Amino acid sequence: MKKIAVLVSGGGTNLQALIDAQGRGEIVNGEIAVVISSVPDAYALERAKNAGIPGYVLDRKGYPSSQAMTSALVEKLRELSIDLVVMAGFMTIVTHELFEVYNNAVINVHPSLIPSFCGPGCYGLHVHEKALAYGVKVSGATVHFVTEECDAGPIILQRAADVLPEDTPETLQRRIMEQCEWKLLPQAVSLFCQGRLTVEGRAVRILP
Ligand code: GAR
Repeated sequence: MKKIAVLVSGGGTNLQALIDAQGRGEIVNGEIAVVISSVPDAYALERAKNAGIPGYVLDRKGYPSSQAMTSALVEKLRELSIDLVVMAGFMTIVTHELFEVYNNAVINVHPSLIPSFCGPGCYGLHVHEKALAYGVKVSGATVHFVTEECDAGPIILQRAADVLPEDTPETLQRRIMEQCEWKLLPQAVSLFCQGRLTVEGRAVRILP
């Protein structure tokens, strides 16, 4: 059974999707062992508590640098024997120390079809503001392995959703969460836990 750590910073609807999928037995060979929040009062911690999952706060403000915070994170993950790290709305910068230990074992969900509307400073609602400002007719979500370069790691799963003429950033965000993120993230996590993902260069192969 793979032990999963979910990193969060906010509302935690993607965490909830993982908890619900776990409850339905859809995270095959995996178990959420801990939720780690970079924000002390993130609602995601409530969701963890309600599900009986241990919550832990790793506040960036408590560390002199991103590197120091990342080292503390790695220490915690090792202490708990974590196999897979899932960033589910985690808005804090981490440094290479994490990827040295967890090579192709950190997964992120991003609310656009990468390589569109991604990279430094492009997160949360900003992503949807940019998509609407550009005038795209479809957007969507991407689940990918995390590497040192922001939003540039090998892509595991992607799914598209329509952009409607009357959309606001909030309505587009909600549609992409419902139709894409909340489905793709548990699916990718389950594939990882079953050992069905292999990475060849930039390409992720999904084994049958
Ligand atoms: C989600 O839309 C997630 O894809 C996005 O933040 C939101 C978090 O919502 N993440 C990023 O933009 C990362 N670059 P949640 O806390 O309700 O899961």
